[in-house]
Amino acid sequence: MNKLRVAISLAVVVPLLAVACSSNYSKADADSVARSLAAADQQKSSGDADRGKLLFRQLNCSTCHSTNGDSGLGPTMKGYFGSEVQYKDGSSERVDEAHARREIIDPNRRVMEGYGPTMPAIDWQKEPRKLSDVDDLVAYIKGL
Ligand code: HEC
Repeated sequence: MNKLRVAISLAVVVPLLAVACSSNYSKADADSVARSLAAADQQKSSGDADRGKLLFRQLNCSTCHSTNGDSGLGPTMKGYFGSEVQYKDGSSERVDEAHARREIIDPNRRVMEGYGPTMPAIDWQKEPRKLSDVDDLVAYIKGL
């Protein structure tokens, strides 16, 4: 293996391990994803961007997503809002609050062009998480 390959493998594996070892959240199964999506549709609170910024680090979003335009395991969150996201299945969608909320709750429903299905689905209705965390994250991302 050449050095570049090793570096690339490490760049992928290290963030995944960091995320896997995190005890900040429990992973969601299909049922809990469906429940959170339904509840999020009911609840339309506006989020707290400062709290979202904190959560973005605590929940390891920042290991895969930069906020300054740098590339990573996932897309940068800089300029994400309002952009047109392309999916592997050929569909595309303009990002607004409802879109971002849905994709954070159910990240693997569609996978973005150029990326793998590695984003973890968090159970947002299981303590210590709560559904309003998603609104806080969305409020933060919106300002990037
Ligand atoms: C292990 C890496 C990883 C972590 C941790 C991670 N993501 Fe992602 N994320 C990805 C990848 C890869 C994609 C693109 C593939 C896809 O569509 O799922 C993505 C996509 C996204 C998108 C765009 C989805 C769309 O279709 O518009 C948002 C928004 C997002 N992530 C937010 C977050 C937030 C918020 C967190 C923390 C709670 C987080 N991510 C944690 C890897 C990660």
